[in-house]
Amino acid sequence: MVQQMSSDKVEVIAPATIANLGPGFDVFGIALREPYDVIGVKRVSETGVRVAEVTGVGANRVVSDAKRNTASVAAMEVLRKANAEFGLEISIRKGVRPCSGMGSSGASAAGGAFAANLMLEKQLPLSDLVVCAALGEQASSGTLHADNVAPSLYGGFTIIRSYNPLDVIHVVPPPNLGIVAALPDVMVSTKEARGMLPRSVEMRKLVHTVGQAASMAVGMSLGDVSLIGRSASDVIVEPVRAPLVPHLKEAEEAAMKAGAVASFLGGSGPCVASFFDFSISDGKAIGEAVRRVFESKGVKVDIWVDGWGKGCRRV
Ligand code: HSE
Repeated sequence: MVQQMSSDKVEVIAPATIANLGPGFDVFGIALREPYDVIGVKRVSETGVRVAEVTGVGANRVVSDAKRNTASVAAMEVLRKANAEFGLEISIRKGVRPCSGMGSSGASAAGGAFAANLMLEKQLPLSDLVVCAALGEQASSGTLHADNVAPSLYGGFTIIRSYNPLDVIHVVPPPNLGIVAALPDVMVSTKEARGMLPRSVEMRKLVHTVGQAASMAVGMSLGDVSLIGRSASDVIVEPVRAPLVPHLKEAEEAAMKAGAVASFLGGSGPCVASFFDFSISDGKAIGEAVRRVFESKGVKVDIWVDGWGKGCRRV
């Protein structure tokens, strides 16, 4: 048996993310500070990747078959791209609940790719890791989308400028941009939510969406939280998915009344995400207002009120 040296193991934090942000379906995403997954990898001499254990929130919903697990598929892609002559054992501690709209599979995929990369002598650039992690994400959602894995790897705000070839633009959001992420006790499968998407889009909705998305990107780069808030309207995707999340509209309205600059469906849901300006409030009233909506209907909800976060990093 080969003895493992401590440098043959690494643990990384892979943050939750909110994708779409209103008008940026499959394009925009932002990293949160919390919650996050912790992904550990251990070098082994046999090639291939094995999932040793999955623990934490909703672990029973995560497949441990290495060919279908997002973290192991992503790690495998990294080893393959680097022609690595060793394998990995991977352990996944879920902090991001599956089926949350908070990039749960994306966080595991990003963490799997990031941790595997740390084991290489010659590491791949983050842009390559996004491709590997997106393939991992595909294993769970059925289609390739990179708007969760990109912010989980880079941190801050990311734009998928192009899928073919994959091109990620990374923007540091304003420091005073606050995020309330509310996760009601409802499950939404991304695969199912993607099955509801319209096949074509009316021209007037496209025009509206381009205006919103362009303005949000400008708001992010100029540090204008009010502009970001004014630019979060989604007339294409959220309306068709809204039935998946009971009390979504009431929660959004309550967040706005409590001082949010925008409130929208997080990713494919059921997360309800709101933006606020830290230079005006600490955001707690927004979190409480959303909590009251769900709890008054008998739905349990977890709430995170914080700033945006950094990308994957060593524990
Ligand atoms: N852009 C993806 C979707 C994100 O909305 O289906 C999934 O979290």
